[in-house]
Amino acid sequence: MSVPLFGVTIGTQHYKKCFAARHFQLAEKIAVRFQKICVLGLGYIGLPTASTFATHGVQVVGVDVNPDVVNTLRNGGLHIHEPGLRTLVQAALRSGNLTIQEQPSEAEAFIIAVPTPFQEDKLADLRAVEAAAQAIVPYLKKGNLVVLESTSPPLTTVGKVAPLLETSGLRRGEDFYLAYVPERVLPGYILRELIENDRVIGGIDRPSAEAARHLYSLFVRGEILLTDATTAEMVKLMENTYRDVNIALANEFARLAERFGVNVWEAIELANRHPRVKILRPGPGVGGHCISVDPWFLVEAAPDLARLIRTARQVNDEQPQHVVELARQAFGELAGLRVAALGLAYKADVDDLRESPAIEICHLLQQAGAEVIAYEPYRKEAQTNGIPLAAELDQALQGADCLILLVAHRPFGTLSPTAVARAMRGRTVLDAVNLLNRAMWEGEGFQVIKVGEGLGVRP
Ligand SMILES: NC(=O)c1ccc[n+]([C@@H]2O[C@H](COP(=O)([O-])OP(=O)(O)OC[C@H]3O[C@@H](n4cnc5c(N)ncnc54)[C@H](O)[C@@H]3O)[C@@H](O)[C@H]2O)c1
Repeated sequence: MSVPLFGVTIGTQHYKKCFAARHFQLAEKIAVRFQKICVLGLGYIGLPTASTFATHGVQVVGVDVNPDVVNTLRNGGLHIHEPGLRTLVQAALRSGNLTIQEQPSEAEAFIIAVPTPFQEDKLADLRAVEAAAQAIVPYLKKGNLVVLESTSPPLTTVGKVAPLLETSGLRRGEDFYLAYVPERVLPGYILRELIENDRVIGGIDRPSAEAARHLYSLFVRGEILLTDATTAEMVKLMENTYRDVNIALANEFARLAERFGVNVWEAIELANRHPRVKILRPGPGVGGHCISVDPWFLVEAAPDLARLIRTARQVNDEQPQHVVELARQAFGELAGLRVAALGLAYKADVDDLRESPAIEICHLLQQAGAEVIAYEPYRKEAQTNGIPLAAELDQALQGADCLILLVAHRPFGTLSPTAVARAMRGRTVLDAVNLLNRAMWEGEGFQVIKVGEGLGVRP
């Protein structure tokens, strides 16, 4: 069965499961066309989203409260690194469909893609979401759609965003549509995944879900799955929590392997030959502002129930300290050592340093008295809060007593041990991401220690 809405025919299969047949008044009365939309927050999510809508013929007002972001974009620059983004943004600006502003303006749809970090106490900081919702209020009109994309604790859309929007005097479900649409793109592949990934759309009611589907089908080629707003919030949190818990398990396996003199990488490879086992990779810890943050939103919402989730977070948060312990075993006394730290991003081949375990490891090494010189190929000019940054790899390596590899960036995969040996003073390498070929490096006289192998590994 299908229902004609906004002039397009829409299958009812998914939303029938999720919503009892409710009123259709708003959807029937108001034909939303989405010729003009407003995207609030022009970071890793908002900027690609705004630019993609713009290159698909929609007039987009991109809004950011950070004047540096606004000025950079207006002057043709880019404040974040993501493959292909510069070309896309330039095309969007050149088309005349994308304009950049510090304030929202009237539009048919508003998309909120602002940060949702946590505070010191691990509670969600929703101030940016609240500020963005408030900023929309003066421009909200009957028939508009508001979409929250920011990762948020359960019930944020109905319990926080809706009441704020209703201070406009308009009523949710009667006067405006409201939906929660989580973003699940992988940094490094954002432009492709934005279009190709399946998309979960959670409406506060059925017409809201349909309105949001209508908007996103302008460019999404993956399947669009409709549900209610709170389920969609849970879906996003469950996805990242699943990853976090499984990485914690891999990190715990690595520690066990180190104790028993087992090579965890080999053990994982063998275990993964089981048709129903897929163990993830251990590493230096979990970072970024998604996987290391989002599980706390569930812990906050139900601390009595989210016990495994909390423990997994703690295991992953302890991993940088564990890597420093390995460094101590490998390098000996850390005080006075000159350590070249390769990679500061929170994961491979991105420039994002938020919540990065690599940065925490550098700070812990410094606290232990080591002199750390870091090299981050994707953010050579980064402000790293007390960690000296080399502009070139050679500068970091020059005279170093030991090397610690913290991120599996592609360029590090082709590091030549011969060239490194020429620059370094010492011959010890700690590989926290299992990127280096042990035989090659040992052939150049290096002692190689890896997370998940420790020092007691069997030949
Ligand atoms: N980056 C990812 O890979 C990813 C993936 C999935 C979901 N998310 C979620 O998407 C949301 C946005 O993440 P991001 O990585 O794009 O963040 P970001 O920090 O890269 O960008 C957010 C932008 O919003 C701006 N901003 C803050 N408050 C604002 C306001 N009131 N009005 C307008 N602009 C405002 C900031 O200045 C910043 O430029 C977060 O909730 C995040 O958890 C991110």
